[in-house]
Amino acid sequence: MKRAFIIFYTTLFSLFLIYGLFPVSSAEAKVSGLCANCHTMHNSQNGTSVLITGTGTGWNSSGVLSGGSLQSAPAETLLVTTCVGCHSSTTSSTIINTGGSQIPIVYNTVVPTNPLAGGNFHWVATDDTRGHNVYGISGQDSLTQAPGKTLGSCANSCHTSLAQAPGANNSNRGGCRGCHVFTSHHDDSRLWYRFLKGHNATSAELPIPPSAADTSDYVVGDEDDDWEQETAIDHNWYKGTTTAYSPGAGLQNHQTITAFCSGCHGIFHGPQTNGYGMGSGSPWVRHPTDIALPQGDGSEYAQYIPATNYSTQAPVAWTDPTNTSNRGTPIVMCLSCHRTHGSDQPDMLRWNYSGMIAGTTGASAGTGCFTCHTTKDGS
Ligand code: HEC
Ligand code: HEC
Ligand code: HEC
Ligand code: HEC
Ligand code: HEC
Ligand code: HEC
Repeated sequence: MKRAFIIFYTTLFSLFLIYGLFPVSSAEAKVSGLCANCHTMHNSQNGTSVLITGTGTGWNSSGVLSGGSLQSAPAETLLVTTCVGCHSSTTSSTIINTGGSQIPIVYNTVVPTNPLAGGNFHWVATDDTRGHNVYGISGQDSLTQAPGKTLGSCANSCHTSLAQAPGANNSNRGGCRGCHVFTSHHDDSRLWYRFLKGHNATSAELPIPPSAADTSDYVVGDEDDDWEQETAIDHNWYKGTTTAYSPGAGLQNHQTITAFCSGCHGIFHGPQTNGYGMGSGSPWVRHPTDIALPQGDGSEYAQYIPATNYSTQAPVAWTDPTNTSNRGTPIVMCLSCHRTHGSDQPDMLRWNYSGMIAGTTGASAGTGCFTCHTTKDGS
């Protein structure tokens, strides 16, 4: 009796820990910790600059920002370094805990252990094909524009390269901010999943007006509190849709992660017109995305039930990702196969595509493509 009582209260306490201290919300981006971790009031200490930028900048094993070189010009909002600098580490850790701050690392100068959900820029620093080439990490590769570049969008901008320095072509953004167009490190009230916000399809003109921050073209999702450093307990939930749409106002109208990627790679999604798009049913002409993963119909896909047996080999999006009691229908998305920042594979894929052999009973059976196409391996 007493034992059951204790278990009851222990369970209640754990529930409190899970839901009380870490409320399930769609955006948990707010930073914590010492102001001095991230800000410098005058960019001067003992007469020397504090701001560090450039190659080699990153948090070291003592939790100190080091490497790079000192920059005498101060930065906007009084920051001690750039986007790349603060999200980098010279260790293999992908979360740095220092002075009360918890910093997600997306670029490790050495091979990262447990890369976060977006993967890592480590590999693209030495091999162009393994990630997005972004300013501050790697120069422009042989690609002169985003493959499958969205029609009609501005010609010389983030749609053509994310490796350009901030300037007039990218509204003083470029690099990280080509995708994370608006950021809000101190504000949890923004509903943008991981600061993924477009610049308003109806005002494509540069410079991007500040008012674009208030439009509805952002990604919806439920954010895992450790950015999927571990996936055994919980994971991210991304928005997807079963409604067909063409690139343009896709992000505004559907708020899916696939519509976000399609902002730059628009030709790879949508109904087929003049060689563009994926089609609208089988037989498809490009791999479909933002379509339902068939469930419960006995087909090859029905053997993968993400609601009860989610696989990080082939994650899916959901029609109602923030509804914790019923996330809705599982959806094929761009991130079912790709990592967004970079990976150890060509085309920033989640697994070794050249190891996917139809009819195999070897090591790749049940992995990668076969997670969904369960009847195409030999097992
Ligand atoms: C001085 C340090 C610092 C700088 C500079 C900085 N960030 Fe961050 N950023 C953080 C920390 C710390 C977090 C984690 C906040 C938290 O605990 O959720 C974060 C979180 C993020 C996230 C994830 C948000 C989420 O929902 O989890 C993104 C995306 C991001 N930053 C992008 C950027 C971009 C783009 C820039 C440049 C405009 C930038 N950061 C500059 C420290 C920094
Ligand atoms: C702001 C524009 C933009 C967005 C948004 C964008 N990309 Fe890209 N992408 C590019 C550009 C430019 C290139 C070509 C240069 C390079 O490789 O970085 C590219 C290249 C790629 C490549 C090929 C990499 C290589 O070097 O072979 C893949 C794969 C890719 N993107 C996937 C995605 C996915 C998945 C998303 C959504 C999470 C996405 N992209 C969102 C601009 C974008
Ligand atoms: C091509 C678009 C793109 C570019 C460029 C990009 N990001 Fe991201 N970023 C994303 C997406 C999409 C996610 C969400 C990934 C997920 O949840 O699977 C993300 C997630 C993050 C996170 C949360 C950690 C994680 O892995 O989920 C941080 C921090 C972050 N980005 C920082 C940066 C920084 C710093 C840069 C520049 C060095 C950058 N991003 C460049 C698209 C991009
Ligand atoms: C972990 C890093 C981090 C810490 C700690 C931090 N900040 Fe910030 N702060 C940022 C970043 C990054 C920005 C840039 C705004 C953005 O990109 O979202 C910022 C912007 C600001 C801004 C201007 C924009 C806004 O949101 O109001 C103020 C004011 C500010 N910080 C004050 C503080 C104060 C005061 C402290 C200490 C109590 C503090 N910050 C601690 C990272 C941090
Ligand atoms: C997240 C689950 C998922 C993953 C991972 C996945 N697929 Fe698919 N694939 C689907 C679904 C669902 C369809 C649409 C089936 C339909 O319309 O009947 C599809 C369609 C296809 C088609 C076109 C079929 C047709 O009827 O036109 C091919 C070919 C294909 N996939 C190959 C692959 C390959 C190769 C891989 C690995 C690189 C892969 N898929 C990974 C779910 C997935
Ligand atoms: C079913 C798995 C799968 C899905 C879903 C998927 N891709 Fe790919 N993607 C691949 C594979 C595999 C390659 C390697 C080349 C090939 O076979 O086309 C690739 C290559 C690419 C490239 C590089 C093309 C080049 O010319 O180098 C880009 C860009 C890209 N994908 C973007 C996207 C975007 C954007 C989405 C969502 C609209 C998406 N992918 C959805 C599997 C996928």
